[in-house]
Order: sequence, then C-alpha cells, then structure tokens
Amino acid sequence: MQTPRRVEHQLTDKGSVPVYATAVIEQPWASYEAVEHDTWRRLFERQSAILPGRACQEFVDNLNALGMDAEAIPKFEALNRHLRAATGWELIGVEGLLPELTFFEHLAARRFPVTWWIRRPEQFDYISEPDLFHDLFGHVPLLMNPVFADYMQAYGAGGVRASTFGDASLAELTRLYWYTVEFGLIATDDGLRIYGSGIVSSKGESIYALESPSPNRIGFDLTRVMRTRYRIDTFQKTYFVIDGFEQLFHATVDPDFAPIYRELAAQPAIPAGQVLATDRVYQRGSGQGWAADGDV
Ligand SMILES: [Fe+2]
Repeated sequence: MQTPRRVEHQLTDKGSVPVYATAVIEQPWASYEAVEHDTWRRLFERQSAILPGRACQEFVDNLNALGMDAEAIPKFEALNRHLRAATGWELIGVEGLLPELTFFEHLAARRFPVTWWIRRPEQFDYISEPDLFHDLFGHVPLLMNPVFADYMQAYGAGGVRASTFGDASLAELTRLYWYTVEFGLIATDDGLRIYGSGIVSSKGESIYALESPSPNRIGFDLTRVMRTRYRIDTFQKTYFVIDGFEQLFHATVDPDFAPIYRELAAQPAIPAGQVLATDRVYQRGSGQGWAADGDV
C-alpha cells in the first residue's frame, strides 16, 4: 500500500488528531493489496450480517442500491455513478481527516471526502481515525437518501458560516455532526434503529447502542445536542434519537445559526452522560418496543 501523507498531529478539543494533506487525490485502486481487499471483505461481511433489524431500512436498502459488496474494495467512480444519479453527491479521495473549514466546504458543494486507505489487519476491531471502511460503508449509503443528502449539504454550509464565529461555535456545530451523522439513532415503527456511521461501521457499538442498558437515549433537540460534550475514546454515553431525516434537515436549515450561538454562549456545556429534566428519554418497554417519556 502507498503511504498516506500525514502532515502533523494537532491538539484540538477532540484530543491530538492527525492532520493530512488536503489535496483531492485519485483513488489508487490498482495498488490495493490482497490483504487490504480481504480486510474490506471481512469487515463488510461482519457488518452486513448484524445490521438488518438494527440499522434503519434506508441504510440497508441503499447499501444494496450502491452495488457495494464483499468482493473487493469498491471503486469510488463506480459508487459515484449511483450517487450522482440519486442525489447529485460525489465522493472524492483524500488522505485522511481534513481541517474543519476544508471539510465544510466540500460538504457544502455536495462532495464527500473519503479516506483512500484501509486499516491494517491488527486494527480490525478498532481504529481511532476514519479509514476507507468507515467512510465508505458508514457514510455513503445515506448520501443516497435525498433528505439526508440535503441535510449534509446544509450542515456544510452552516460550517462555512460558523468558521467566522469562532471556536466555540465550531465546537457546537461539531457536536451536531457527532450526535447525528456519526452516532445518531432514529425512531421507526419497528423500534429504534441506527443510522450514524460511527455505529454502523462498528460491530461492538452497533449492538451496544441499541441493546445495552447503559447509555442514555434522548429525543433530538438542536440546542441540547449542540451543548452536549462527547467522548471519542469509548462507546457513547448518550445517543440522540430523531423521528425522521426531515427533522434533521429542518433543524439545520430553518434557523439562522447566529442567534443559536449567542443563546448557547450563555449556557454551560453538558457532560456526555448527563440527563436533564427536560429530556425525552427513551426506555425499552416490555417486549421489543421503545418509547419516550410522554409517548402513548
Ligand atoms: Fe465519520
């Protein structure tokens, strides 16, 4: 495998994170080795087996519609033919995590950056930064969904605006991405389901997020989410539950974020595991059902 061009590590509010060269690169597909295709195959087969009944149906259906399979690492160009036709998004190859503003600018232009390299076999169960499997398998299926696709673009545009408001606003907006795009749950007629890419690309968290009694599952509220700290080194203490992707889109594009940042400036951040009296907490009822406080 070629070597990704990591520039340096930077200390941020997410801890020490790698920063990579920002150039858009062509996916070096011909250079993937057998062991890398095998890592893709094993990860794909493992997640595909546990996600039906756990991931939302839109994710499962679009994974199939994209033509991804266990056979080999997908070619970005082949996926792009489906994506462009469905929602006008396209994938671009990158070396790894991007600076925030660069990332926001890509999203605002309906370009989703995908890390071209895949984890090593010894990183099979856990990798601390996004690799190709996380980015492709985790993120791309929902970019086929028109409402979610519009949310992602609106989020990117909000990020570009937030970059002029300062670090606190950027941190608040990053929490929104974290608790929706990466670690979101969705309430469906069949019960709670996963849609966040950080969950669907992880065997352990796919099970934990839905079945463990430990984490809080709280109804989505924009400012509540933007105040809530998160953990990057362990499974989440709290998941936020949306009623549908329309809820995300409307929460993000309707308000001008500037008044929200001003409102949040006067309020302290909320620890990752704290529950407030105003939260709609989802509890598992008898049988398989989940319900929030106040729901009949
Ligand atoms: Fe991600």
